[in-house]
Amino acid sequence: MPSLPRLLAAPLALAALIAALGPACTANVEEGCLGGECVPPGGSPPLPPPGAGSGGSGGGGGAGGAGGGGPSCENTTDTGDFPCDVFTALKSNCQTCHQNPPQKGAPFSLLTYEDTQAPYGMTKQRWERMLEVVESGFMPLGSTLTDNDKQILLDWLKACAQPAADGMGCE
Ligand code: HEC
Repeated sequence: MPSLPRLLAAPLALAALIAALGPACTANVEEGCLGGECVPPGGSPPLPPPGAGSGGSGGGGGAGGAGGGGPSCENTTDTGDFPCDVFTALKSNCQTCHQNPPQKGAPFSLLTYEDTQAPYGMTKQRWERMLEVVESGFMPLGSTLTDNDKQILLDWLKACAQPAADGMGCE
């Protein structure tokens, strides 16, 4: 039966053809990638590793932030306005004591954005300490934050206590 091998050969050839097409398919998928999800067009290049050099030494600031683990806070500016929700939370929970001049034994005022950016000790800024004391519940002294206010403050502090965008501030 000489014809039988031929019949078998046909499917085999088909299989080989499919196999040969395989790489082409893969290539297509990769092209799809290039145009799409894998490499977002004009998308965010991976962030440089967080501040490998100098600065901050992690402090309390690195406590795993919204900005991505140990965001580099080195570029923060020291002037600006509070985002409004942050200002409101500070106003009702902190500024009763962290006034100008400070009341009830508070060590400094937290009235302005600049107040939060002032040095704290040798290596930190006040906002880094704010993160620690709000997270631990040490502040506000003698009371507690609502979950909402605590979230607002922690979100902001963990994201390096950035000022509001121009014209969007509150102070
Ligand atoms: C009832 C008054 C009062 C309120 C309200 C208050 N604080 Fe304080 N705060 C103090 C006093 C008093 C100290 C000094 C405590 C100490 O060093 O033992 C202090 C210290 C601090 C410090 C420095 C801590 C340190 O270890 O040096 C930070 C930061 C701080 N407060 C942030 C806040 C924030 C943020 C809020 C609001 C969420 C807040 N405080 C609300 C009275 C207050």
